[in-house]
Amino acid sequence: MAKRIHELFNLNGKVSIVTGAAMGIGKGIALRLAEAGASVVVADINLEEASKTSDEMTAAGYKVKAVQADASKLADIERVIATTIDTFGDLHILVNNAGIYPFAPSLEMPEALWNKTIDINLKGYMFFAQAAAKAMLSKNHGGKIINIASIDSFHPTGNLAHYDASKGGVIMLTKALGKEWAPMGILVNAIAPGAVLTPGGASSMDFSKMTREQIEGMSKAFLDHIPLGRQGEPDDIAKIALFLASEAADYMVGATIIADGGYLVG
Ligand SMILES: NC(=O)c1ccc[n+]([C@@H]2O[C@H](COP(=O)([O-])OP(=O)(O)OC[C@H]3O[C@@H](n4cnc5c(N)ncnc54)[C@H](O)[C@@H]3O)[C@@H](O)[C@H]2O)c1
Repeated sequence: MAKRIHELFNLNGKVSIVTGAAMGIGKGIALRLAEAGASVVVADINLEEASKTSDEMTAAGYKVKAVQADASKLADIERVIATTIDTFGDLHILVNNAGIYPFAPSLEMPEALWNKTIDINLKGYMFFAQAAAKAMLSKNHGGKIINIASIDSFHPTGNLAHYDASKGGVIMLTKALGKEWAPMGILVNAIAPGAVLTPGGASSMDFSKMTREQIEGMSKAFLDHIPLGRQGEPDDIAKIALFLASEAADYMVGATIIADGGYLVG
């Protein structure tokens, strides 16, 4: 008999890591995984904000631990995995979400900014996935790995060549790891969000030099490109991450789900 819907989305007994979960999309995903019953490790470079998020989640009755980590550093990745196993005894779900998107025109792109963006947004995803997969296999089971890509994986924004290249890479990394690891029961998939209202999104634009009319004009022009007529909320992406982490997505491998209010077809 096929599983009932409430069983399919039940993550009781599952252990997850969400990178960049102190705020924004990652926090939204951490909340949904925890609500479904998973233990959640909030791995973030910003310990102060990660601790606030974990305090909030603990107060809601969720099983959570904040760990300070730079997702682009292999030693930090190993430490997060070890802390997860020490604290919750296992690992079943990894969400690679930590990412940066600092605007920079390509003619003036500093090498250091290119390297930092690729290191966090692409290299970090690879080596977090590798370490998580090894941990899952060492426990004699598979798992779910969810990579947060972007509509910029498909369509450049402008002045984000480093970011667009990293996010294009995330889609192919997802396919490659999906193909290689599916026979071992590790299912790798991605989500490509459109414009989502987050602290990072707000601070990436420098509104200080713009007039109110310019800001409103820009916002309207942007919203006109989104058939749904609104930006996304972190929970718009979190609900899809919950689906991919659940047994409802057990036949998905190397896929990318686009969630952009229709931007790419607008
Ligand atoms: N917000 C959007 O419109 C949007 C659209 C498409 C894709 N995305 C992607 O979604 C993800 C989250 O974006 P967001 O808007 O929620 O960002 P955000 O800036 O609001 O939050 C990002 C979180 O990641 C953490 N972080 C940054 N660098 C880190 C590192 N090296 N190691 C560990 N943690 C680190 C930050 O401290 C922060 O808590 C990113 O990968 C981003 O590229 C966002």
